Parts: sequence; structure tokens; C-alpha cells
Amino acid sequence: MAKSRGARKAKLPASAGVPAFSASAPDTRVYLGDCRTVLSDVREVREGKVDLVFADPPFNWNRDYERARAVETLAASGGGEFETWPDDLPRENYLDFTREWIGVCARALRPGGSMWINIPDDTAAEIVVFVKNELKFAMANWCIWHYRFGQNRTGGFINSKVHALHFVKPGGIATWRPERVLEMSDRASIYFDPRTLSKKDGMPAGKRVPMDVWYGANWGRIQGNNKERRHGHDNQLPEAYLERVILATSDEGDLVLDPFVGSGTTATVARAYGRRFIGSEFSKANAVSAWERIRDIGMINKGKALNRSSAIFKARGVGKNNAVVRSLKEGSVGGAESEAAEEAQA
Ligand SMILES: C[S@@+](CC[C@H](N)C(=O)[O-])C[C@H]1O[C@@H](n2cnc3c(N)ncnc32)[C@H](O)[C@@H]1O
Repeated sequence: MAKSRGARKAKLPASAGVPAFSASAPDTRVYLGDCRTVLSDVREVREGKVDLVFADPPFNWNRDYERARAVETLAASGGGEFETWPDDLPRENYLDFTREWIGVCARALRPGGSMWINIPDDTAAEIVVFVKNELKFAMANWCIWHYRFGQNRTGGFINSKVHALHFVKPGGIATWRPERVLEMSDRASIYFDPRTLSKKDGMPAGKRVPMDVWYGANWGRIQGNNKERRHGHDNQLPEAYLERVILATSDEGDLVLDPFVGSGTTATVARAYGRRFIGSEFSKANAVSAWERIRDIGMINKGKALNRSSAIFKARGVGKNNAVVRSLKEGSVGGAESEAAEEAQA
């Protein structure tokens, strides 16, 4: 196995512009190689026809993005020479790389298209300044994905978050459909406050637009024997994360682009919700494994993270607000609420 070094761009393969993997209904394509090079050769990217970009780049944490299991997958599918991405670039090279791939994705977007970037503390500030000041994108939201299994440490607080940065390209209308990703409000799930039954913000009773810190059931890091886990990928995002992003900021039939396919989470969720997809992956082993997931497995927890409560306190309004508990239980506001009402009464 050859391991590449330095921030050089991969040479354009003979198959430039031809996806390594593709499927229809909806159109789904994965291109092999360095996103900075291979994506520029894709028609929709050149023509600025992409509706939504989701990017979860290598963090430059010296991770091996091709673990043993993925290599086995590649061997089983016929093998071949391949390279791994150098995840230990000198800082300046990593920042150049970051600006370059963001530039490709920014050009690929239609005016009003959304660009989401999943990035840890190290580089979040640099990206925000670059995208706002140089590219002149608007920042729609600065969300946090919070997880409980951060790397243990004693020399500082344990890291338990990644930034989910949401930008919008100027010159067009952004797609924003919060009604598809609602969660149960604390008023409904903790306090059983009657005001939750007659909301004035246009959202259904008991529901609210999710807060900008994301956590909860189905939102944990994908590790161990998690049902969603693809072996050989230690940096897989939960389906719930992509479900929220894709449902809230794209419509059915839209074109989603992920320059760093990894285990294929974005493509899997996009396909499950009828979005078209194009993506690139540098590692052939990862691309082979991701394609198996996209084609043969699909989304495992579709809809399971929607309409739930993210409350961190136990219900305490029961008794005082029994009428509200009854309304919620009778199903006037949906399944998850009824579950909480049951719990509260138990
Ligand atoms: C953090 S992982 C993405 C994980 C993905 N979001 C998931 O849920 O599985 C980053 C991926 O980008 C790939 N990669 C790194 N540099 C790349 C480049 N220049 N072009 C395309 N893919 C690259 C790595 O091989 C790795 O699979």
C-alpha cells in the first residue's frame, strides 16, 4: 500500500468525469480521487447546479482513513494499488487544502444553495472567517454536534463537540424547511404547559424547531456495535445528523454534494429521501465500502430521530397540568409526545 505525503493534488485519472460508482432513481454517483480535481470535471459542479453541500473533511489529526476492514473490502473486490490521504499535513498546507476544496464546493452551489461544514475546534474559526469574508456567504447557523464519548484527557476539558457550520451562497433563495425536523418542546415534554397546545409560531402543538446544539437518542458517535456502524470507518457520522441537514435545507429531487464520502452517510441519507447525489472519495477502499452501504444497506434509522424530545430534565408538570398530559397522550401531537406523556404518568 502506497502512502502519499504532502499536499499535492492527485493526477487526473484517465476516467476523468466518469463516476467510479453510480446508480439511478435517484441519480447517485461517487467519483474517485482528490475532490479538488475530480469534482471540477463533473458537469453539475462546473455549471453551479448543486443545491446542498455537506462536507466532513479530514481533520488533519493523523488518522488512518483506511483501516484494515476497508482494505479487506478492497481486496475482496479485486484489489489494486491505492493511496491513503496524508492526514498529517503541515498546518499551512492543510489551510491551503481547506480553502481550495471549499472554493470548489462554493462554485458548485447554485445561488441560495446551502453549504454545511463539519469541523472541530482547530479550524472552525479560520473557515468561518474565510467563507464569510472572502466568499461573502451568509452564515445561517453555527450549530454544535455534541457527543458524550470524547477522547479522555486530564490536561484540559474533554472535547465533546464538532461544529456544524451552515452557510448560504448569496444571490438566491435558501431552502429552509424546519417543519420537517421538529423536536418536542420542553414545555410539552417536561412542564406540560398548556401554552404548548396553542402555539403562536406556526409550529404544531408540542413541537419546536430544534436548538442549535444537537444531541440525543440516535445522535451519538458511531462506534462499537452501533447498528449503523460500517466497519473500517472510525469517523462515521450518525444518520440523524444528515437527516436533519438534508430534510431542513433541501427538497426532494435536489442535488446534494459531499466531497468527502467516507463511509457514505450523506449519500445513504440523501438517497433514502429522494435527493440526487454526487460525491468524491480519495481512498478506493473507502469508496468501495461506502458504495456497498449506499447500494445494498441503505438508511437504517430513517425517521427515528425526528419528533423526539432532547430534554435533559425529567417531566415535572404532571398533576398540575393533567389536561395537557391527556391531550398529548391522546395523540393530538404525535407519537413521541404520547410516549413522553406515558412516561410522565408512570
Ligand atoms: C472524516 S471522513 C468522512 C466521513 C463521512 N462523513 C462519514 O459519515 O462516513 C473524510 C473522508 O475524506 C476522504 N478524503 C480525504 N482527503 C480527500 C480528498 N482530498 N478528496 C476526497 N476525499 C478525501 C478520506 O479518505 C475519508 O474517507
